[in-house]
Amino acid sequence: MEKTFLMVKPDGVKRGLIGEIISRFENKGYTLNRLEMVTPSVEVAEAHYAEHKEKPFFGELVEFLTSGPVVAMEWEGEDIVAVSRLMIGKTKPLDAQPGTIRGDFASTMSQNVIHGSDSVDSAERELALWFAGVASHVS
Ligand code: CMP
Repeated sequence: MEKTFLMVKPDGVKRGLIGEIISRFENKGYTLNRLEMVTPSVEVAEAHYAEHKEKPFFGELVEFLTSGPVVAMEWEGEDIVAVSRLMIGKTKPLDAQPGTIRGDFASTMSQNVIHGSDSVDSAERELALWFAGVASHVS
């Protein structure tokens, strides 16, 4: 079964949206396999956003992600990578449809409540990055 990495970002945690976000994916029928609340290190944040390293907003991205606790999650279900991206909605507020998480809860490009892997390969890489430390002490 396909797996993906979903993360409630610091703004989502501060705004009390953890339960709302988890509910949406549970209601959809997906399975939550792992969850960890953690304030990311600069190293993890930079590795997570490595593909954006050359972008002008990279520094802002890393600063934001390390600004407070996030909820890192592994979810599982049929076609979950693509479907979760639909449920999350577009990055640009003008394009994020009402009914999607960003359409309902985000009004800026940089503080947009949730991250979801954009491909099966990204999901594998991100799950390995975020849960590397956890896997070692979970049987
Ligand atoms: P995310 O899905 O976590 O992946 C990359 C992130 O970059 C994206 O969410 C946005 O939060 C952020 N992002 C994309 N474009 C911009 C931008 N122009 N300015 C600031 N942040 C951006």
